[in-house]
Amino acid sequence: MIYLDNSATTYPKPPCTAEAMNLAMKKFGANPGRGGNPLSLKAAEEVYKVREKAGKFFNAKPENIIFTQNATMASNMAIKGILDSNSHCLISNYEHNAVWRPVHRTCSYSVFEICDTQGETLYRLSGMLRKNTKCIICTAVSNVTGRIMPVKAICSFARDNGLISIVDASQAAGYIPCDVKDLGCDILFTSGHKGLYGPFGTGLLVLNTDVQLKTLIEGGTGTTSNEAHQPPFPPERYEAGTLNVCGIIGLGAGIDFVSKYGERINEKEYELTADLRASLVEYGVTVYDKEFNFTPVTSFNLSDVSPAEVDERLSTAGICVRSGLHCASLAHRTLGTHERGTVRVSIGAFNTRRDVYALLKVVKNI
Ligand code: ALA
Repeated sequence: MIYLDNSATTYPKPPCTAEAMNLAMKKFGANPGRGGNPLSLKAAEEVYKVREKAGKFFNAKPENIIFTQNATMASNMAIKGILDSNSHCLISNYEHNAVWRPVHRTCSYSVFEICDTQGETLYRLSGMLRKNTKCIICTAVSNVTGRIMPVKAICSFARDNGLISIVDASQAAGYIPCDVKDLGCDILFTSGHKGLYGPFGTGLLVLNTDVQLKTLIEGGTGTTSNEAHQPPFPPERYEAGTLNVCGIIGLGAGIDFVSKYGERINEKEYELTADLRASLVEYGVTVYDKEFNFTPVTSFNLSDVSPAEVDERLSTAGICVRSGLHCASLAHRTLGTHERGTVRVSIGAFNTRRDVYALLKVVKNI
């Protein structure tokens, strides 16, 4: 089996992820922050180490690292924590449904276009501001085409206009630098099981602001337990209920892996993706957003064969990709592919040139 769907989740994970989870399960499987017993303290200490690692990775204070179930949970926490039915927000025309749907449910919004140039994008944005515009949300990388978005400029525009900026780094973390101070965003969220090589059931909300979010869920935090309301301070305010300790420890190992080998991995992934794209173009296949800077994600279509059929042919050959809309209708509307979708190939740390050749062989035959 050849796995080329690393945008959906990276697979396989490095052995260190599973080993760390196994150790956590065996050695400190107590509830962190829920008692003064030695095992609970050990669990809390290990969880805190991951908070520190993630803090270093994203250049945020450890207490501003909020562990969530996934990126969707984190995006809902950010969106519903800031916006309400009286507010307006701006979202890009490449947003994933993890942004579009909660925004659609919560407030009024306008979709702005990521244009060919940064200047044009900002010019359009400035014409879309309303009195009640409160926030701008933009993905750092498209999960459909791998296109890298001008988020730094968008965050700077947000700051200049007194707006809160939220960056979706689900396809960016582990692939391009995601230093929240350098990006200038107020809030960043990401999944843990993609480019950070953590397990399923992990995500992160990273705060680079003192703005207090309304809470999405309330419950036990192990602190201020006599009060009826959530504690005011992070991370406890946003982490009601027992944490996914094994998942968090696995995520910590994944972050170690990426911190150590990330540059080498990215270089290889980039090369393989560039070769893949060049060959597809040579075959006369449509490659979307090929003119922009990219991460190792490629969406393509053959003119006469549906993405679903290409996917089926690849699956039959033992090659795993993802076809369809990739939970990102806005992006597909932007590309004009919202009716049939695209075939998406996403390369990960453990893919080789042979994997790419095997895929190209099938596509060429089709
Ligand atoms: N959001 C993930 C994807 O793009 C699941 O496939």
